[in-house]
Amino acid sequence: MYLLSVETSCDETAAAIIRDDGHVLSDVVASQIALHTEYGGVVPEIASRAHLERILPVIDQALHQAKISLSDLNAVAVTYTPGLAGSLLIGLMAAKTLAALLHIPLIALDHLRSHIYACKIANKTEVFPCVGLIVSGGHTNLYRCQTPLDFTLLGTTIDDAAGEAFDKVAAMLGLPYPGGPSIQKAAENGDKNRYAFPRAFIHDKNRLDFSFSGLKTAVRYQLMGTGHQDFSKHEWDAQTISDISASFQEAVIDILATKVRHALRATSMNTLCLGGGVAANSALRQRLEADAKRYHYRFYTAPLSLCTDNAVMGAIAWELYRAGHFASLELDILPGRVRN
Ligand code: KG4
Ligand code: ZN
Repeated sequence: MYLLSVETSCDETAAAIIRDDGHVLSDVVASQIALHTEYGGVVPEIASRAHLERILPVIDQALHQAKISLSDLNAVAVTYTPGLAGSLLIGLMAAKTLAALLHIPLIALDHLRSHIYACKIANKTEVFPCVGLIVSGGHTNLYRCQTPLDFTLLGTTIDDAAGEAFDKVAAMLGLPYPGGPSIQKAAENGDKNRYAFPRAFIHDKNRLDFSFSGLKTAVRYQLMGTGHQDFSKHEWDAQTISDISASFQEAVIDILATKVRHALRATSMNTLCLGGGVAANSALRQRLEADAKRYHYRFYTAPLSLCTDNAVMGAIAWELYRAGHFASLELDILPGRVRN
């Protein structure tokens, strides 16, 4: 049996064909990074229009690479939450149209659960039950993941997402978008102990929420003092940029790694699955790998192509299919954050 998985929640137009035994026949991602770079972030209207132009060619390419045709499909899965409204709509309309035309089931995907499921796909092993940590441009969520169908939110950010903090600090430093990879690179030559940036709630074991806004402000004050000043008028020497990057990155990693330990203890679980764009950060991976050995937990993540947005992680749809969780053609997008 063949599944078409469609993902358009942010700025990647993606489609994949996945067999019911999990085998991936095709994996197509049309990135829009080049379209948004000059604006220093994703512009929702541009993203939506680009999805509209690309969605049919991307689906065609996924079918072509898989060497199957539309009539071979047994189900179509699509991300309906969370994400940018105009972006989610394009994928959803395409998927609903195909489900209606082909008389096949429609499966509704929660993008954040798909990010965790990427760990199971990448490692080809059972990862549930686990604590799931999603760190992306839009989310910083800790979950208790009992099964692929049973997630409970343990903590989330009360202000900025981790990736957003990377992007904003990079912009302050004049580093190119997307900020995460730029900060990671600059941090390689930096001293992570030069600046002692704040780590919000880090000692509060009962609070699994995150806050990155104070950290971002601390970087700003370190760079420019407390007055209102224009970043574009400032230039810092390469060593300062590297040291700020390394110290900031270390603060984020410290916060994430510590909250993970609190979540593992609170849930009595011993497996961590890490997903989302910030999971691409090599210093974060190294820290969690070291912590996993030191504190005796299993740590799973995925290669970069499965951490950033893609349609392959929509393979979670087969779990929903087998459990009979089908969506109606009335399915609508749910752009905001879901609380569970
Ligand atoms: O999951 P994702 O591709 O898109 C969504 O936000 O849904 O995540 C993008 C975020 C951006 O904020 C980007 O700066 C961050 O992931 N990111 C990184 C790295 N690569 C991407 N952050 C830190 N280090 C990285 N190497
Ligand atoms: Zn994502």
